[in-house]
Amino acid sequence: MIVTFASSKGGVGKSTTCACIAAALALEGARVLLIDLDQNRTLDRWARKAPIENLTVAAIDPQKFGEFFREAEGSGRYDHICIDLPGSREVTLFKALARSDLVVIPAQASEPDLREALVVISDIRDVRETTSRPIPYRLLLTKVYPLRTRVADFAYAELARLGVPLFRTALVERSAYREMFLNGQPPTITETGKGAGAEVLSLLAEIRAIVEEHGTEELRKAG
Ligand SMILES: Nc1ncnc2c1ncn2[C@@H]1O[C@H](COP(=O)(O)OP(=O)(O)OP(=O)(O)O)[C@@H](O)[C@H]1O
Ligand SMILES: [Mg+2]
Repeated sequence: MIVTFASSKGGVGKSTTCACIAAALALEGARVLLIDLDQNRTLDRWARKAPIENLTVAAIDPQKFGEFFREAEGSGRYDHICIDLPGSREVTLFKALARSDLVVIPAQASEPDLREALVVISDIRDVRETTSRPIPYRLLLTKVYPLRTRVADFAYAELARLGVPLFRTALVERSAYREMFLNGQPPTITETGKGAGAEVLSLLAEIRAIVEEHGTEELRKAG
């Protein structure tokens, strides 16, 4: 599957979530390519700290994305491709959206984050129209406080009012998500079966289910 992590807002958890999901898939034995399209090369640096078998991280010049993606997808070397985007709206965003089986839109429970998430959702709708591909997406609440706050309640109510589809899993504010950038270890290794590790696997299960459901729907329509 091809999963893109997108938001025009910086610092919402795109790279963190992308690294966690890519690592979890690779640790299960799948061959995973993570394409880092952020000029800051956050994930390229992360992957060098503690390389994971089956996980290839490639920092790509945005200009070369199309060509690189075609070659990688056509090569048959990878079971899954995860794409980490920069926190801005540029041409790679649209190119990545057009190729995705699912778009994960991380956002904190705050008004500015939700507003930026809506910008990406509108971009996805544009790309859907031009490519005639369904491109499912879900908003992912990140850095959520363990105790439900008024702000979180506002965010849930607002998302429901706007009809924005949401992952059931939310990523709680946890040190494991910060430490992974210091030691290179993903939460599925440092917190196996609990905390951030359990959260990441629950998110991965949801991602899989959505991609499978859409794949089946597509086949039904085609048949
Ligand atoms: N659930 C979480 N709990 C605690 N810290 C988190 C969580 N998610 C992300 N962070 C931290 O927040 C910071 C920003 O996260 P990240 O780099 O993933 O955001 P981003 O959306 O990729 O930002 P950019 O747009 O700048 O690339 C990082 O220091 C990361 O460790
Ligand atoms: Mg990032």
